[in-house]
Amino acid sequence: MIKYNKTKYLILGINLLFLGLFSFEGITQNIGFEKQIDEKIDSIISLLTLEEKIAMCHAQSKFSTPGVDRLGIPEIWMSDGPHGVRGEINWDDWGYANWTNDSITAFPALTCLAATFNPKLSKEYGINLGEEARYRKKDVLLGPGVNMYRTPLNGRNFEYMGEDPFLTSKMVGPYIQGVQQNGVAACVKHYALNNQELWRGHINVEISDRALYEIYLPAFKAAVKEGKVWSIMGAYNQLRGQHTTHNELLMNTILKKDWAFDGVVISDWGSTHNTKEAALFGLDMEMGTGTDGLTTSTKNTYDYYYLANPFIEMLKKGEVGVEVLNDKVRRILRLMFRTNMSENRPFGRMNNQEHIDVARKIAGEGIVLLKNEDSFFPIDPNKKMTIAVIGENATKSMTVGGGSSELKAKNEIAPLQGLQARFKNATIVHAMGYASGPSAYGKVLSSTLNLEKLKNEALEVASKADVVLFFGGLNKNHLQDCEGGDRQEFGLPFGQNELLNDLLKVNKNLGVILVSGNAVEMPWINSVKGLIQMWYLGSEAGNAIADVASGDVNPSGKLPFTFPKKLSDNAAHSFGKLSYPGDSINQYYKEDILVGYRWHDTKKIQPLFAFGEGKSYTTFKLSDFKTDKKQYVQNETIVISGDVLNTGKFNGSEVVQIYVGKPKSKVKRALKELKGFQKVEVFKGSSNFVKISINTNNLSFYDESISNWNLEKGDYLIYVGNASNNISKEIKITIN
Ligand code: GLC
Repeated sequence: MIKYNKTKYLILGINLLFLGLFSFEGITQNIGFEKQIDEKIDSIISLLTLEEKIAMCHAQSKFSTPGVDRLGIPEIWMSDGPHGVRGEINWDDWGYANWTNDSITAFPALTCLAATFNPKLSKEYGINLGEEARYRKKDVLLGPGVNMYRTPLNGRNFEYMGEDPFLTSKMVGPYIQGVQQNGVAACVKHYALNNQELWRGHINVEISDRALYEIYLPAFKAAVKEGKVWSIMGAYNQLRGQHTTHNELLMNTILKKDWAFDGVVISDWGSTHNTKEAALFGLDMEMGTGTDGLTTSTKNTYDYYYLANPFIEMLKKGEVGVEVLNDKVRRILRLMFRTNMSENRPFGRMNNQEHIDVARKIAGEGIVLLKNEDSFFPIDPNKKMTIAVIGENATKSMTVGGGSSELKAKNEIAPLQGLQARFKNATIVHAMGYASGPSAYGKVLSSTLNLEKLKNEALEVASKADVVLFFGGLNKNHLQDCEGGDRQEFGLPFGQNELLNDLLKVNKNLGVILVSGNAVEMPWINSVKGLIQMWYLGSEAGNAIADVASGDVNPSGKLPFTFPKKLSDNAAHSFGKLSYPGDSINQYYKEDILVGYRWHDTKKIQPLFAFGEGKSYTTFKLSDFKTDKKQYVQNETIVISGDVLNTGKFNGSEVVQIYVGKPKSKVKRALKELKGFQKVEVFKGSSNFVKISINTNNLSFYDESISNWNLEKGDYLIYVGNASNNISKEIKITIN
């Protein structure tokens, strides 16, 4: 009697079933393939032991979870981050493994992508980044980040897409679709209300339902409903006294019930705090416990994770039903069938020319021209002249530092290099001017350089130049644009303002180029001729800024967040410490729905530069904009159309923006809110027709009295313009 192992033949049978199914995949593709997957998942779950299921729900290393060797189920490997695939990290500490094959293309930061106001570029961004993640054999890419820009001091704003939920909602879906078509799961983060870095690990956010649903959730909802994202990352902070990573309202009610999310909820690294809540309130995969997120990890064996032994104990005592565990495993297996157990995912590519070209194109399209007196920009690249390039930010690497989004770029063209390559007929002289000091995790080291000497050299160079370009802004050091801390001042650091004032005394022909991911104060704004907001642009930074400075690329970026004149003009900073940064335990979002331009418009506080603002080397005129009707009903499409004329000397692109407000409303409202936009290219001397559709349902407000959306009847105003502070037409419509 040959003793045979029943399970082995059963497994063999299931594998044959898989192969059979996969081979007819093309046919079954449309016949409820997802249904087939669910059947396979159920059959696998029936084979798994309790310990195997539990193991899949938590880390086995810094960035991986175990599979099940016995059944041929692979491990899941994850990597940061939103702007590129991070260098390989050690198995069980935050050190870099120093591989020789993990240098990648650094794409522009997501503030830049948002500033393009171009969802098509979002798709391209996702496809190209996803190819690199696939090539690096990552199954989950930990990005994009879509937390709203509430305060200009938040250390991670550079990683996100600005202050407006509609703009972010339109940009996040295509990015996710692009990443996921490579068989790599995107992981939208940090869900939710992680709007500052100070006390991020525990700060408890108190907020109205209206602000939660109208401002802070839409981007995540769009990631799930339109982006079909396969995973989402819980945040560090608390909401109404419960950690967001295992939060009954956010995870069970809103994400998994209302939005029908069928993917995996992954914790942030060290954001899990409680077994019962993790089990019952929606956490599927626990990562990074025993670390404080970004620094050292204590010697924690993975069995001590909340979803490890303690979870097994609860199950064995019957405190939690096994179906709670099975639901987690089902979601994890579904993610695997979409990634590392999918038969038809592509192989990915890395550092190829197309990726470099796309990084440069997006960078160039996201750069924002904010001031251009006497046509300071563009600078003629064929003219013999001396250009003084002043500033540490003209040469400092911005792909390292900043926290978990930092990258090991195969190439990074700094601004100075880009300018030298493009302006071959010019004599370019660089002086550092100011110094920030070396970057170090979690601490600020001041420069050991002789700052007086740096300043005098810069003044010397500038005094002899025809043109001065000042590269200032922030950087990725701690307490600058960097995870784990917030900025402690709104102004430019490292003595830049004083240096600028001195430079202007020796040469008035000066333009400023800010390298940053946040708004800053600009006391010198009236004295400089030109101002460009240049984001963290990644590998092609220098080439992209040279493209714009030389006029090869006509800037078309628009600000994704407001630049207030002073910090106290910002909404979150208008309600004292309890509003920002909180009292270290609780924090109250007292500005409620009036975030960003919503605050500035409604309170009539003139910003320094407005949301949606950005100049071009040419001029545009919006004309004949009108709606298709005057009266609309619920769930009907409003069509706004008109012409964009290019009345200048350069070909260029303009972003038509449609805002909507309700002058007489029974509830508090912002003066106007972005509800549509369209970027359009128009050649010089010609015009282009633009059509933007808005469903009337999108004009609803979140009605706390019915805990649901409510479309108020009556008159609305449609504002047509090319910036939130540059409206060229108002059209009244009525909703009956
Ligand atoms: C960090 C970040 C998160 C990142 C994760 C892994 O603390 O908050 O964005 O993906 O840990 O590095």
